[in-house]
Order: sequence, then C-alpha cells, then structure tokens
Amino acid sequence: MFQILHRDGLGRIGELTVNNRRILTPALLPVVHPFMKDPWIQVIKDLGFEGIITNSYILFKRKFEGKDIHDHLGFNGLIMTDSGTFQDYVYGGIEATNSQMVTYQEKINSDIITIRDVFSLPTDSWEQVNSGVEETYSRAIEAKNLTKNYMALPIQGGKFPDLRAKSARLMGSLDNEYFPIGGIVPLMESYNYSSVVEAVIVSKMNLKTNSVIHAFGAGHPMFFPLLVLSGADIFDSSAYIKYARDGRILTNEGTVELNYISEELPQSAILDKYTLRELKEMNESERTLIIAEHNLYISQKEIKRIREEIRQENLWNYTEYRVRAHPLLLDAYRKLLTFYNFLERFESRSKRSPIFYTGDETFLRPLVRRIVEKEAKNQEGLQVNKKPYSFYLGPVDTVVKTPFGNFSIYMDETYPIAQSVFPGEYYEKEIKEEIIKSQEWKDFLIRKANYIFRYQFSIPLSNLVDLKEIQIRLSKNTGKLRNIYLNDKLLFSLRAEDGLFTLAYEGAKLLHGKLEKPRQRVFVSKDISNFLLEGKNLFSKFVKDVDDNLRPGDEVIIVDEEDQFISFGRAILSPEEMRDFKSGLAVKNRIKSRDLEN
Ligand code: GUN
Repeated sequence: MFQILHRDGLGRIGELTVNNRRILTPALLPVVHPFMKDPWIQVIKDLGFEGIITNSYILFKRKFEGKDIHDHLGFNGLIMTDSGTFQDYVYGGIEATNSQMVTYQEKINSDIITIRDVFSLPTDSWEQVNSGVEETYSRAIEAKNLTKNYMALPIQGGKFPDLRAKSARLMGSLDNEYFPIGGIVPLMESYNYSSVVEAVIVSKMNLKTNSVIHAFGAGHPMFFPLLVLSGADIFDSSAYIKYARDGRILTNEGTVELNYISEELPQSAILDKYTLRELKEMNESERTLIIAEHNLYISQKEIKRIREEIRQENLWNYTEYRVRAHPLLLDAYRKLLTFYNFLERFESRSKRSPIFYTGDETFLRPLVRRIVEKEAKNQEGLQVNKKPYSFYLGPVDTVVKTPFGNFSIYMDETYPIAQSVFPGEYYEKEIKEEIIKSQEWKDFLIRKANYIFRYQFSIPLSNLVDLKEIQIRLSKNTGKLRNIYLNDKLLFSLRAEDGLFTLAYEGAKLLHGKLEKPRQRVFVSKDISNFLLEGKNLFSKFVKDVDDNLRPGDEVIIVDEEDQFISFGRAILSPEEMRDFKSGLAVKNRIKSRDLEN
C-alpha cells in the first residue's frame, strides 16, 4: 500500500493507498473535530488536502451511530481516526477500552484505525514507560485479532531511546505498515526538538524501511523539514486552529502574534487579502477563521516545498537553512547527525543539487563524512584557488586541499568535491585549449578514470582492461573525459553532473566478470529475465537479494540467483528497502534492445 517515488536521505516522497484512497507523502492531516466540521472541511478541501484525522472517541461518547465517517464529515479523501488516548492525556478520565474503540472505528469505516495506546509522559520513570510500552503491545495484538482493517500502531517510549527501540521492535513484529510516533507532544511543547528527532529516528531504525512513519501532533511547519529528513512521512495538526484562537500566525520560521505586529502581516495567499488593520478590527470568530485558514495554507505550502526539495535532492541544504530558525532546532539537527551509521545507508553518493555550506554541521552530513572517511588523504595538499582543480593546474598528479580535506586531484570532478559551494571559492569552467589537445592531458584522464573507477566500484579500471588498449572520447567543448571504449565498444561514460561512471552493456558485463559476488549486484529469479531483457524496470517485489554495500543511485548489475548476468541499471532504493518493499521500483533498468543485437 506504500511505495517510494522519490527520495533524499531518509526523506521520501511516497504514495500511500488505503481503501482506494491515495495520498502523496510527506502529508499533513489536519485535525477536524467530528462535530465542528464546518467550515473546516470546505477550507481543507479547497486547500487540496488529501487526508484528515478526526477523533473517534468524541463520536463514540456522543453515541454517533452514523455509518460512514466519510459521509458524516462530507470528505471522501483518506480519514484516519484517533482513539481517545490523547484526550486521556490532556483531560483524563477516558473510559472506553481498546477493544471498544477499535471495533467502533471499524464500524464507522475509518481508513486508518488507531489503537488505544498508553501515552507515556517525558516525566514518567523508565519502569512506568516500560509497562506502558508492554501494555500498548498487548493492545495492538488484541486489536489485530479484532479487525483486518488498516491500522496505526503507535510507538511509545517516553524519553528513553531503549524503550522507543523496544516499542518499535514489538509493534514492528506485528504484520503492520503504519506506525505513529506517540508521546512527543509534551516534548515539542517544551521545545525539546532534539528528543523528538531521537524518538523518530530510533523508531525508524527499529522498524522495517517500508513502514509509514507518522509524527503524532507535530503540527508546526517550522519543524517539518527536519522531521522529514529524520524519516517522518505524515504529520497531523490541530495547531492551525488552536493557534488561530489566540491570534497566533504560523510561518515556516516560527509563530507571530497578531497583537504584536505593527507593520505588516506575514505574506500568504490568505492574509494578503486583508490589511493588518482590517484583521485586527474584525470580530473574533471571523478573524480566527482567517488565521486558521492561513495556518493551514502555510503548513500545506511547506509540505509541498519539502516535496520539491526532495525531488531536487536538496533536502539537506534546505533543512540546514531552515533549522537556523530556532537554536533548539539546530540542536535537534545536530542530534540527527549523530545517527551517521544509519543515515549513511540511505544516502546516495551524489545528488542533483550541490552542497551548500552553512556551517560546521555541513561537514557532518553522511554523504560528506562517508567520502572523507574513504578518500581523504593524510598528507599535505596543494592549495588551488579554482575548481575543478585540474582545469586550473593542468595534468598534475597531486593531492589538493579542499574544504572537505585533502583529496587526490583525480577526484576533482566527483561529487561533492566540485559540486559544493563554500565562501571564497570560485570556478574555472574552461580548460586551456593547448592543454586539452596535449597527449599529457589524455594520459592524465586515463589515470583519473582508473582512480574514480576504483572509488566507485572498489577495483581499478586496470583490473578490467589494459589501460593501453582503451580509447577515450573527450567533450569537444570542455575537454572533460566523456566515454571509455574498448575495440569500438562503449564500456563506461563519465557523467558531467557528478563525475561518476555510468555503465554501458559491455562495461557492465566486464565488471560482472571481475567483481566477486555479491558486489554491485541485485539478484532476481530467472523467471523475470525476459521481462528485464525487454528493458522493463525492476520492481522491489522481484528482488531476491542485494549487495549490502549498494546505496541509492548506485550503478548495479542485475543477475539471476546463479549469478548469470541479465542486465544493468541504477538503484533507486537502498538494500534494506529493496528487501522490505512489496511495491514500487527498485532498479531503473538501462538495457537497450541494441545491446542485445550482437
Ligand atoms: N496524539 C498525539 N499524541 C498521541 C499519542 O501518543 N497517541 C495517540 N493515540 N494520539 C496522539
């Protein structure tokens, strides 16, 4: 029911379909009171929300016997229902049992039923939280036996990472896809964003990668980018209305109070219709409506923005920029970066967007740390003022000083060495004509290719072919290495965007012959080889096994279970995701019919 369409780190654009109702994630589900649907449902529809969340306990208590919640609310999108657990935390005294609430939610046709989880407080002791976690797990088992409907199983754990992990493992052991992270509202209220991020990522680390992660009650748009980068797919918000009642206006940098604005309202399609004075002089209910509408609009806008940033593979840059809105968000971002070993497994080796330096944290991004740990040299580097370094220096085999550390000059076109922007760095795009034409430049490019190949595929090019026998083609305009041939057959192309190789058919076969199994491979069953030979893409449900060293975006070789070469392409998912997901693309196939002609 859930599949990934685009991804950037742990952030992803997904498609969740429940009961034929589809939502694009990351998504925000506005909270709607089941007996105060007007005018909200209309506003929510007008703003294009695909899903909402409402409270089944209020319906249950008032003995609402209507059949379908969609009819009752006049909303035919996805409707998730909560169970009363949160009311219990806020007001106390909720009597309905887990089984009553689960059965009731099934009866009113909720698309996503939430169990009656035990809400743990940040002030609860380890023992209290532990018993809540265990009780929540028993209730999840009970609920699973009551209905086959799609269900949300909240992960609790208070502020104890070990109990979050335990809760995630217990809940994840049940056949389920949707997991809200619970008990985080009081953490957010005390600006403890760091513990929220920790709760989200620790849960994520202990669930399967195809789980949908919902951050319960995380309704402030200022926090969305970081939460998405930490792995959250869904948010819900009652903040839009709660804040509006107090004249508080949400922006993606924080909150402003209408009373304290003396010059100009924050900009939005909703507020732009009014002057500050008009809004201040309005009667309260009218004003609340307008501010709430703005709050929803701006939250939705931020979700859309985040999806664009994921498509552009710019989420790390965007998040670093956004977390500067609040020092405690920056603190939470720093917390996220401590989960390097986990983050790194989902991180591609290059991105569409360059790395923009914003501060020390930039060096701690997993993509950066990985290449530094792998490639940085423990020796002096030559200071060169312009990038790519070899365009400026010419064919000199040396180590150069980069903001990331000292690297072989051969890496100077490879992501992120060239594709990064630091204060004080400038670019030299052109290589001098006489350099391009020289034999030394060509020889240099072959040594460079050999080096990049080793970085990318763990063996040097010289292990596959005699470097004296290959032919290279350079770009006429830029003098950069483009293609490598052997006996007129294309083996590899060096991509201008990220300075990494793309496999061609003959190159993929050569690589397959030299690299030991399971390196660089995705294994599939023989039955689907014809399908792949027709050039169709590989879906994750057909993946039998995969090299754990692969990362999204890597060049891969597709083989059958006996390691017979079938095809080649580009990984879309990480190895864990290829194993966990039952739907969606795993590898973009690149075989062409002409590859098979001779
Ligand atoms: N809404 C906000 N937090 C929670 C939570 O922990 N559990 C449930 N069921 N709903 C919530």
